[in-house]
Amino acid sequence: MSPVTRPPGSGRLRRAATTAALGALVAAPALVTVATATPAAALVDNPFVGATQYVNPDWVDSVEGAAAQVQGSNPGLAADMLALTSEPTSVWMDRIAAIAGTDRQHGLQWHLDQALAQKQGSTPIVFNIVIYDLPGRDCHALASNGELPASAEGLQRYKTEYIDPIAALLDQPAYEGIRFVATIEPDSLPNLVTNMSDADCAQSAPYYREGVRYALDQLYEVGTVYSYIDAGHSGWLGWDNNSAGAATEFANVIEGSTYGWNAVGGFVTNTANTTPLVEPFLPNPELQVSGQQVRQSTYYEWNRDFDEVDWSAHLYQLMVAQGAPTSIGMLVDTGRNGWGGAARPTAVSTSTDLNTYVHQSRIDRRVHRGAWCNPSGAGIGERPTVAPAGYASSHLDAFVWVKPPGESDGASTEIPNDEGKRLDRMCDPTYASDALGGNLTGALPGAPLSGHWFQAQFEMLVANAYPAIGDGGTPTDTQAPSVPAGLTVGTITSSSVALSWSASTDNVGVTGYDVLRNGTVVGTTTGTSFTATGLTASTAYQFSVRARDAAGNVSAASAAVTATTTAGTGTGACTATFRIVNSWSGGFQAEVVVTAAAAKTGWTTQFTLPAGVTIGSLWNGTHTVSGSTVTVTNLGWNGNIGPGSSATYGFTANGTAPPTPPSVTCS
Ligand code: BGC
Repeated sequence: MSPVTRPPGSGRLRRAATTAALGALVAAPALVTVATATPAAALVDNPFVGATQYVNPDWVDSVEGAAAQVQGSNPGLAADMLALTSEPTSVWMDRIAAIAGTDRQHGLQWHLDQALAQKQGSTPIVFNIVIYDLPGRDCHALASNGELPASAEGLQRYKTEYIDPIAALLDQPAYEGIRFVATIEPDSLPNLVTNMSDADCAQSAPYYREGVRYALDQLYEVGTVYSYIDAGHSGWLGWDNNSAGAATEFANVIEGSTYGWNAVGGFVTNTANTTPLVEPFLPNPELQVSGQQVRQSTYYEWNRDFDEVDWSAHLYQLMVAQGAPTSIGMLVDTGRNGWGGAARPTAVSTSTDLNTYVHQSRIDRRVHRGAWCNPSGAGIGERPTVAPAGYASSHLDAFVWVKPPGESDGASTEIPNDEGKRLDRMCDPTYASDALGGNLTGALPGAPLSGHWFQAQFEMLVANAYPAIGDGGTPTDTQAPSVPAGLTVGTITSSSVALSWSASTDNVGVTGYDVLRNGTVVGTTTGTSFTATGLTASTAYQFSVRARDAAGNVSAASAAVTATTTAGTGTGACTATFRIVNSWSGGFQAEVVVTAAAAKTGWTTQFTLPAGVTIGSLWNGTHTVSGSTVTVTNLGWNGNIGPGSSATYGFTANGTAPPTPPSVTCS
């Protein structure tokens, strides 16, 4: 089909009928008006030139929340995060519900109104939007599977419930001063180039092609939309056969649409990926190391395109050869391809072993270029930049942040959800994948669902930014010390328990331990022993210990030990009375009542018997006799006497009962 020429001076072609679906999706009926013939500004060559860009307040909120979380432990990092709050990031329409708004993001109309509020006078404002809801979405992976099935019905819903309402909203006359830069369906056409042996991709293919055409045409009719088709990245499509296949696929889809190349602003590479913009120490893929070209290394697998500057330049050539106008431009998503931080090489390797040479020279620290999910070690890349200089062959319209830094690529474990998303093992750090040469994925642990905020990733991205943001903060440590082992009880008294344990280990250093008694912290120490004091006698306590590190991380509590304080001597005063209970010829029975004034743990009494009298048997106490002095102390069970309470012991004696009961001392 031959391309239809855009009407001079205006692209506004939309008809009233296309806004029908809008009513259900916007809150304010006043805005459900049909576009009139108001002329829109003419499309320009590079929409970013001479315009400001929309800063997404939802993303800024996430960044501010992230900064608040590290403010106490790492204020430098917090400051670097806050330095990003004026950067534009794309607004993703990642499901039908996103148009009206979800619990994670405001609706499209809200964003458009915010964009109007940010617009400065008559200067146009660029609004970066991602169209991402094709039937059978993410056909070769699971992390971003979508809501629409790869079927005729799914395609129909894509058109009427997704594209039409979006186009109708963008077409509102109020938003005429906004230049919409649309990233068209990340990963979709690239999957048709390399993954057609996957049954899901084969099934999705016709719907992807038809869906992309529909999106391009409808958005073109808005008159203010610049569509950039997603073109994978160098580590995906760079090889000669893949790039040739991509150029054909892209051209076929575009030329099969109503408006053809008129509806296409260009291509966007590296969307949501971390492939470097430039590999500074590997400028020449054909450089020889010990007789082999660098591109022959295990890492590059003969691919000549090592980075996004290579791929965008390569793609530009191929698309122009396919009939694209030379005015097409390229965008590169640089949100997460910085690869700064301590692991970044600072010079080209001097090794004569090819793979060592490549390994030591490349800034891309992934185990394999196919590792796409939350790669550890990545950093924020170039800030969004209009018409970046220095890459003439790449025809760059801008560096953009399509994937908002800090949003997850996929959950690292199965997480139930209503977004159609699933666990893709590429996001699981414990998984070694054949697709990655048998390597572990290198994905960050603890990742939430794709699109959800991932604090640890954002902290890493900001700290590893290249170019650096501020000083990158001091390294953030999230690793807790090891749980203290070997907790042992030492000396126990009636009011104290001595404890000791083995030292914990930690990457940034253990700074101390908390001692918990029955779950509550009762003391801290920098050593590995502690004596808990102020305890009640004859009482069982549970103790455990946890370790702290220099970054404020705290380990889990150790296994608990139980210690029971001894009965001790008590301190309460006591009195004792002696009473003859019975007497007979040659003998008698007596009892002694011991009464505590205050709580008493353990008691001892003493009295003197008349000459010639001896103890027969004594109960409820234990006695010693020295001359005529008898000393009686408590047994285990009757030593504790509460305030005002008593304990009684008794005995039989041989001899004549004394006429007056002897006095008894008590201590
Ligand atoms: C997710 C989307 C999300 C986008 C931006 C994609 O991987 O599937 O839900 O909006 O990333 O974070």
